[in-house]
Amino acid sequence: MQEGPRSLPVEPRVVVVRTAIPEGRCEVWTATSSELTGQVRALEALLSPEEHDDVDRQRNDRVTATLSRGLLRLLLARYVGQPPSAIAVIRTCPVCGRPHGRPRLPAAPHPSAAPIAFSVSHAENLLVFAFASCPLVGVDVEPLTAPDALSAELVEYALTPTERHHLMQLSTSEQPELFLRYWTGKEAVLKAVGTGLDLPLQAVAMSATQDGGTAAVDLVGSPPQQLYLRRLEVGAAHVGTLATDRAIDDLRVDHLAQASVRGLLQ
Ligand SMILES: CC(C)(COP(=O)(O)OP(=O)(O)OC[C@H]1O[C@@H](n2cnc3c(N)ncnc32)[C@H](O)[C@@H]1OP(=O)(O)O)[C@@H](O)C(=O)NCCC(=O)NCCS
Repeated sequence: MQEGPRSLPVEPRVVVVRTAIPEGRCEVWTATSSELTGQVRALEALLSPEEHDDVDRQRNDRVTATLSRGLLRLLLARYVGQPPSAIAVIRTCPVCGRPHGRPRLPAAPHPSAAPIAFSVSHAENLLVFAFASCPLVGVDVEPLTAPDALSAELVEYALTPTERHHLMQLSTSEQPELFLRYWTGKEAVLKAVGTGLDLPLQAVAMSATQDGGTAAVDLVGSPPQQLYLRRLEVGAAHVGTLATDRAIDDLRVDHLAQASVRGLLQ
């Protein structure tokens, strides 16, 4: 008797389609940790052993650390066309070698991968992820504070004399928002260049605080560098700024709702 065609066992396979980001566009994703508590386990399963160790060290906010790393992998998967857990995310600090530096991909993550830079920030319940196809991307978000939280020492520490002068033109109630526009702009720039606060905030001079401004950063030993700033609309309770080394004329900000995260995890 002749045997019929035998069905071969099918290997489960995650197919991730790569979505390239055109030049001039930046895609920003926001998420709120309270909305995603049900997804923490599934996101944790995507992390590398090094990331698990990293999360274990963060006793204060393990949930945010897990969401930050897991969601970053889920989103990166769309851009590099690899399964989330297969992506190599490097975090080696250039100063001490420990894994707490700027997260980045290896030079050639995948033969077909487009060059992509990204940056992550979180504050309170909010997580923000920015992706663009230019070399330098930095993002920072901070909670909007009450006027009495803005001390003279903080202003002196963070702002250049010109920026301080602009701040003092405003009423006390308007000052926290402008201060945080400066602060998030400066931190976004320092995250884009990868030094973080190893460089003083005053190394970044902001020429404008309106949408579309620029910032000049003085890197020790190199010529001053100009970065582009964009204001991010991340809700009334937070102030956010994006810094890139290319002008962004197409800024997209989308919220990662629970249903979208569930969809990406499937
Ligand atoms: C980068 C830095 C400014 C972030 O400060 P923050 O306001 O507390 O945190 P944010 O939420 O805005 O950003 C945190 C994210 O920045 C990213 N990040 C960390 N170091 C970074 C760096 N050097 N450059 C760019 N991004 C960095 C990470 O993605 C981190 O989130 P994750 O750990 O969940 O992935 C701060 O950690 C810093 O200055 N680091 C460098 C200084 C340092 O650690 N020196 C010691 C050298 S041994």
